[in-house]
Order: sequence, then C-alpha cells, then structure tokens
Amino acid sequence: MTTVNTPLNPGPVLPDLETVPDRFARSSWFRHDRFGMFIHWGAYAVWARGEWVRSHEKVDADAYQDAVDRFGAEHFDPETWADLAVAAGMKYAVLTAKHHDGFCLFDSALTDYTSMRNGIGRDLVREFLDAFRSRGIKVGLYYSLLDWHHPDYPHYGDENHPHRDDPAHAGHVSDLDSYRRFLHGQIREVCTNYGSLDILWFDFSYAGMGPAQWGAQEIVDMVRVLQPDALMDNRLETSGGGLGSIATTAPNPYSGDFVSPEQVIPVEGIRGQDGAPVPWEACVTLNNSWGYCADDDLWKTSQQLITKLVECVAKGGNLLLNIGPKPDGTLQPEAEERLRAIGAWLDINGESIHGAGPAGLGTPEWGYYTRTENAVYAHVLRAPTGPLALAGGIPKDRIARMTSLADGRELQLCDSWVIDSYPHLPFIQFGEIGHHTYPLPDPVDTVVKIELRDEGPA
Ligand code: GLC
Repeated sequence: MTTVNTPLNPGPVLPDLETVPDRFARSSWFRHDRFGMFIHWGAYAVWARGEWVRSHEKVDADAYQDAVDRFGAEHFDPETWADLAVAAGMKYAVLTAKHHDGFCLFDSALTDYTSMRNGIGRDLVREFLDAFRSRGIKVGLYYSLLDWHHPDYPHYGDENHPHRDDPAHAGHVSDLDSYRRFLHGQIREVCTNYGSLDILWFDFSYAGMGPAQWGAQEIVDMVRVLQPDALMDNRLETSGGGLGSIATTAPNPYSGDFVSPEQVIPVEGIRGQDGAPVPWEACVTLNNSWGYCADDDLWKTSQQLITKLVECVAKGGNLLLNIGPKPDGTLQPEAEERLRAIGAWLDINGESIHGAGPAGLGTPEWGYYTRTENAVYAHVLRAPTGPLALAGGIPKDRIARMTSLADGRELQLCDSWVIDSYPHLPFIQFGEIGHHTYPLPDPVDTVVKIELRDEGPA
C-alpha cells in the first residue's frame, strides 16, 4: 500500500506541531482518540430539570437538600456505562466529580456534602474510574470551580449564585482565601487519591471569578506535579465561549492544553496567533441538556451526531458527547440508541476518525475530508447527481486506489464525457458510466478511502 508522505497541499508553512511546547506532546493521544463521553450526573438529576436548577430557580441549600437526600444511584452500574462507551467508539470519558451545586461524587475529607455521606455511601468517582480504565478507556474528571454550597463562595452580587439577588443574603461576606484553600484542597484530593488521570476538566471562569480568584497558577503547578500527564482544559481563565490565552503567542501557564468550545463546532478549527493548530474539543449534548432533564425531548439524530464528529475531526478537533444519567444511574433510551448508532458507524468507518485529522485540502461542497498518515478520507454527506468531484486539491495523478469503506468496493476515477470540462479534476464514478443516479452505500456518510502515491507517474 502506498503511503502518503508528500504534503498534499503545502499551503502556508506552519510551525511544526511538535515544536509547540508540551501541549502537543501531552495531547498526542487526545488528538488521536478524537471522540469521548461526557457524563453530567449528580444530585440535580433528582429534580430532572438540569444541572443549573439551583441557580435558575434560586433554590436555597435547605430546599436543595431534598435532591441530595433523594439522590440514590440505586441502579448505578459503571460497567454498563463503560460498555456503552466502548460500543459507541468513545476512547475517553469525563465524569462530573463535582458540579456547581457543590455536591461531590467522590470521598472528600474537606466536606460531608458527598455521595459517601448522603445515603448512597459509595465513591461514585472511584467506581467510574475503575470500570472505564478496565476497558482501556482514558479517564478524566470534570471539577467545578464554582461551588454554590460552600459558605465562603461569593453569594449576593455574584453572577450565578442562587442567592445572587436575594436581599436576605446581602450581608453575606465571602472569604475567598478560605474558599481557595478548600478548592485547592479538593483538587489535591482528586489528583492524589484516584490514580493517574488523563484529563482534568475545570469549569468555568466568568466576570469577577477568574484565574486570580481561583489561584489558577497554584492549581496548575499542583496538577503538573501530581498528574504530569493530565490534560487540562482552558476554563481556568475562560468559559466555553472563549479561547483564553492558549491561542496567543504568550499563553498563561494556566491557559490549559485544549480549548473547550461548547455546543458549537469552531467555524474553521482553532489556530493560535502563530498559525499553529491548537488542540480543541467541542462538548455537545445529545438533546439540549447536560444534566438529566426529563422534558427535554429535542434529541439530535444519530446522523447529525455522526456528521458533527466528522466535522470536528476534519477541522482538527475532538467531540466530547454528553450523557445525563437519571438519578438512579440508568440512561434514557434515546441516549443509548444514539451512542450505539454512532458506534455501529465507527465500526465500519473508524479509521477515518480515530487517528485522523485535517487533510490540508479545501472543503468540498458534498462533505469533508479527513486524513491519516496513509490515506485521505472523503466523507460524502450529500449524494452527487453524477460523478463526484474530488475538489479541494487532491492531485489526480497521485490517486493509487479508492475504496468505499461501507461495502469494501474499489471505486474508479470517472472518465465519462460528462466531465470533459474538468480534465484536471478527479471525479469518483460510484455507479456504472451513464447511470447518473445511484444510491450511496451509506446514506449518512459514505466514506471513500483514497490512497495516494508518493508522487505522480513519471
Ligand atoms: C456550561 C454549563 C455547565 C456544563 C458545561 C459543560 O458551562 O453551564 O453546566 O457543565 O457547560 O461544558
């Protein structure tokens, strides 16, 4: 099989990925694996109105105790979740160890507000880590920088706290030094007591609560010592809407290792000011909710989700796809159905996603290109009316072999008269010459593996 060595489309000379310090060495597995599972689970699932219910409905801690007390994880089986992640073709997984409500799914010496002491009596984080690691899935923990339960976290006047505009709390004085000690202490616990972590997913900075307030430099210094191989996202200094300094020529030490766009796929991927690609991961929900929301039935189709995964990889990023388990630990059937459909597609087409990235070609009107070291992959999302133009810069004379992954058929370059006007452009002939309408083998995304010669014929 020929290998692709010569750059298809030299384009502008970009800094070599490997010359960008650290971040690329640490993230090579991340940029290979491309597809992960996000899991938003906690006491908020009991009320089934999403993970921001305390803030949105301005619920005080005493009233929220109902959710904490009734959060039972009765049917929580992390082995089932891990098996589903494998079936979905997900190569890493990130669980909310603590969300903004402050309730911890892990054992902490710094608070009783945990699943060890609320009646569940289980370290849910440890069980999650054990189950997913046992299947070779890399593991990460989401940890909320916000903590609406902690007495020293800003209350009245804060942008998001449940008591932000409650006059009864106008006299509350937050003690950020005390909160930072708690925050750093818990991050130390998570980084010390649970083995090697592959990702620490912090969330999130906002007006008035950012790197200085979190003590971001100390957090990163601690993580880099305790978990030197762990990747961190960029939300110690921004939110899902921002880049932070990671994309600048002078990134802060706490800028993270990847950008974490939320519910949006970056229009053209993400590059730094120096033009070098920046690792990124779009986090996306299956419906419109992160935490379990019973009446959110706006489920994305598996076709949409597959094409979003392809788009992420074609643009040099990852997709972190979220599930929001019910309070008892079971999943909604719609979620499971979509993950299994994505996995079935990846079983056939995974080589165009896992280990793949941008092809360095123009974007064709029918879909996307991804590329590995050995081949270019044409992701045909829209059926052609006749031969399919491989527009974007694939040199016609270097095409050695084309194969449809869906059915293994070898495809030919078209030499029909209908494309006489485009002598230099390669076209794929899917059907017989003259049959100008034919079904693509995969109505969701027909992937054509295009193997290239190192150079054209003499
Ligand atoms: C937003 C949501 C938060 C969720 C996060 C995931 O920040 O507010 O609840 O955990 O997105 O990226």
